[in-house]
Amino acid sequence: MCKNKLKILRPCVIGLGYVGLPILVNLSKKYNSSGYDINKQRIVELKKGIDIFGVFKKNNFNKNINFYSDSNKISSYNFFIVTVPTPILKNKKPDLSHIKDVCLTISKVIKRGDIIVFESTVYPGVTDNFCIPLIEKNCALKNGVDFFVGYSPERVNPGDNKHQLKKINKILAYPHNYKKKYILKLYSLLGKKIILTKNIKEAETAKVIENIQRDVNIGLINEIFLACSNLKLNFSNIIKLASTKWNFLKFKPGLVGGHCLPVDPYYFSYICKKKKFNTKITLAGRYINDQMAQVVKDIIKSKLKEMKLKKNTKILICGLTYKKNVADLRNSLALKILKMFKNKNKYIKGFDPLIDSKTAKNNGLFTNANQIKNFDVFIVLTNHSKMKKILKKVNKNKIIIPI
Ligand SMILES: NC(=O)c1ccc[n+]([C@@H]2O[C@H](COP(=O)([O-])OP(=O)(O)OC[C@H]3O[C@@H](n4cnc5c(N)ncnc54)[C@H](O)[C@@H]3O)[C@@H](O)[C@H]2O)c1
Repeated sequence: MCKNKLKILRPCVIGLGYVGLPILVNLSKKYNSSGYDINKQRIVELKKGIDIFGVFKKNNFNKNINFYSDSNKISSYNFFIVTVPTPILKNKKPDLSHIKDVCLTISKVIKRGDIIVFESTVYPGVTDNFCIPLIEKNCALKNGVDFFVGYSPERVNPGDNKHQLKKINKILAYPHNYKKKYILKLYSLLGKKIILTKNIKEAETAKVIENIQRDVNIGLINEIFLACSNLKLNFSNIIKLASTKWNFLKFKPGLVGGHCLPVDPYYFSYICKKKKFNTKITLAGRYINDQMAQVVKDIIKSKLKEMKLKKNTKILICGLTYKKNVADLRNSLALKILKMFKNKNKYIKGFDPLIDSKTAKNNGLFTNANQIKNFDVFIVLTNHSKMKKILKKVNKNKIIIPI
């Protein structure tokens, strides 16, 4: 067992995106903390107090925080929290390349007595069977003896003020006795209650199934919505009636995007398949939810047809991020819908007040509310809180909100 007399935890958060930055900001309230990101531009901006995701303002950043884009600089820290992306490849298989890179980075800076907690969403077994062996192989130290690895799934919910870090319970899987009290104290800054378990695989699985359950439930309500439309039944009336039962779950039909729901079911089904178990329901949400872009596009198309517009009517699709009040365009079906329309109609443009100017430019979008006055019809896909105020000045009869 490591005899290192580690008394003060010096945390370093690796990967400063939607998940990593809030963790770092919270830790910096009590710890001399650092954040490392491979994206140099992100570090330059964060040093100036700019968070292009719009979550944090300059005064949220504590002077205690050191931001680095050079991994050599993080060797003086002893508690690493990993929050890098875990997307899927084109063939829908897990892309662990960022996790792999981080493990290699850590193996270069790790010292005896250091602790690493992975927080990225993964399938069961990634921490034990992929990350730990990779680090051990490259640093000649041993987990559980020289350094200590845990896993804590993240429940950050961007755009949701009700469920901020300190207001929700957080799972921490830590199978060692080494510095457990110190770690729990540090983690108390990251959750209302810390649920401690020794089993990393169970914590990894808990995270993915939380998202699978939600994806499948939304998929089911999307299917019911489509079925009602096909059967010429009033969906909203039916949901109102069904909701009078005490255990009916009120999910809403709509577009599912982002970095979690469209991704995590593939992680779980991948490992199940590898272990010769074929999931039958896990991906069901994916099949339906991915179709919703086409469905919503068709709804809009028929509403536009009913309006009997001139060919050169200027149409603005408003709200393109994957979710209300979030600046994230990843896997956004709203953006996909815009692209489908833009391919066929040069008078259709996109607008989102939340996205940063560089991302907007790359995607050919407007962000400035003053630019919308030249348009004739407004289609709202992601209804940010800001949108109501912005659209106040336009003709109400020319606003379409598809479902
Ligand atoms: N976004 C969410 O709402 C959310 C919620 C819960 C869990 N998660 C999970 O958390 C993880 C991170 O998601 P996110 O949304 O914060 O991603 P993100 O893309 O917003 O941020 C990840 C950051 O990691 C950086 N990065 C990538 N490779 C790196 C490396 N090798 N070294 C250092 N930095 C590196 C990127 O530059 C980026 O800034 C994912 O596994 C995701 O599934 C996300």
